[in-house]
Amino acid sequence: MDITAFQFPYKTSVVSRKQFDDHMTLYEGYIKMANLTDKTLATQPEYDTANASGGHYRGWKKTETYTINGIILHELYFQNLGSETTSPGKKMQSLTNKFYGGFDKWKEDFTACATSARGWCILAYEQRTASCRNILLDFHDVGQIATAFPLLILDMYEHAYFLDYGTDKASYITRFLENVPWDIVEKRANLLAF
Ligand SMILES: [Fe+2]
Repeated sequence: MDITAFQFPYKTSVVSRKQFDDHMTLYEGYIKMANLTDKTLATQPEYDTANASGGHYRGWKKTETYTINGIILHELYFQNLGSETTSPGKKMQSLTNKFYGGFDKWKEDFTACATSARGWCILAYEQRTASCRNILLDFHDVGQIATAFPLLILDMYEHAYFLDYGTDKASYITRFLENVPWDIVEKRANLLAF
C-alpha cells in the first residue's frame, strides 16, 4: 500500500511561504522515493546478490530507512512549526526541570544542539534510560537513539532556513523557539506512560 503525503497548511511565522513551499516539495520527494523503494524491494529484491559491501538490495534497504525517517521527521517538524508565543505545559516544565535543571537551561542546551546539528535537533524522551534528551542527527538515518520518542523536532538542514535566514542560523533557531506550539509537544509527551 502506498504511503500518502499529509497536507500541511502554511500558518507559521518562523519561515516564509516560499521557504515552506520549497520544503514541502522536498518532503513529497521522500514520499515518492519511499514508495518506489517499497515497490522495488517487493518485486525485484535480487536476494542472490545481497551483501554488506554494496549493491542492489543493500542500496534499497539504506534508502528505505533514509526516506521513512525523512518522512516522519518532516511531518513532526511541520506539525510543531508555530506561529505565536505560547508557554510550555506542566509535563514539559516538569521534564525540563528534572533533566536540565529548568526550562531556560534546557533551551540553552537545545540551542547548542541545534547549532551543532547538520540535520536535526530533537527533544526526545528516551525510554530505556527514562530520561529527557536533546539529540543531534546529521542525517535522517544517522544519530537517532532507537527508543527515543520525539517531542519537539527542529530541521537544521540548510534547506529548511537558508532562503530566509542565509547563514544566520541563530536567528532561525531563536524564532523557532519563540513560536513552539507547546500544546502539541505536551500532547506528544502525554502519549507516554512516565
Ligand atoms: Fe527538511
